[in-house]
Amino acid sequence: MGLEAALQRLSGATVQDLLSEEFVADAVRLAGLYYDPRFLEGVHLYGDDVEWMRSDKSHGLWQIPTQLAPFLVELAGRKVKTFLDVGTFNGWTLTFIAAYLQRFGLERALALDRWNLLDPACEDLWAAHGLDIEYLAFDSEEVRDRALARYKKAEKPFDLAFIDADHSHEGVRADVKVYAPLAKALAFHDVNDVFCPGVAGMWAEIAGGVEFTHHSRGLKVMGLGLVTL
Ligand SMILES: C[S@@+](CC[C@H](N)C(=O)[O-])C[C@H]1O[C@@H](n2cnc3c(N)ncnc32)[C@H](O)[C@@H]1O
Repeated sequence: MGLEAALQRLSGATVQDLLSEEFVADAVRLAGLYYDPRFLEGVHLYGDDVEWMRSDKSHGLWQIPTQLAPFLVELAGRKVKTFLDVGTFNGWTLTFIAAYLQRFGLERALALDRWNLLDPACEDLWAAHGLDIEYLAFDSEEVRDRALARYKKAEKPFDLAFIDADHSHEGVRADVKVYAPLAKALAFHDVNDVFCPGVAGMWAEIAGGVEFTHHSRGLKVMGLGLVTL
């Protein structure tokens, strides 16, 4: 499958390749993009990258390659050893991010979702690539908080928490309250997305972050934000 080929490309790449946004964007394309048929102003959500969108509805990264790539290259310089993923969905983006960061010292990750939508093939890839990822689909906040209690014993146990979960303003605010105390930096998906005013609004309240919002046709869709706490 495409994700496996992309992971092989990442593991076989030189560090110089991995620091090239074009190389990383091509690896995202090779994996494939999640099926999303939305258009805005007559332009497909993925813009010029629509040709890399998969037609099946369970696989693919729900990301724009020219946003995810510079975001990852930025992270390469930040020594992310511990990573928390919130809103893991099918697991493709998490797996890609973890495989990329593994090349720069990632040791372990915790992946959380309110529902279990994980593509089981991801777990095989974690094992095959030596990715130490704990996955938890929690059906209540109590279950989540019990799992997080272990981590709370350490100060800031995650170098980075990536939030792409409940996209309402109150939902992102609640997630920031839960995860910010656990992380040295926070990243958000959809900070520049006209379909996600809740995330964009919350992001606007956070000062001092960097954004990765490139779109080949200039649409305000998706966008990643990264802020050091
Ligand atoms: C847009 S998808 C995430 C896409 C994924 N990060 C990617 O790049 O492909 C949002 C995910 O968040 C999950 N979710 C919704 N509310 C949540 C919450 N409060 N906590 C954790 N996950 C949540 C949904 O089940 C869904 O899988």
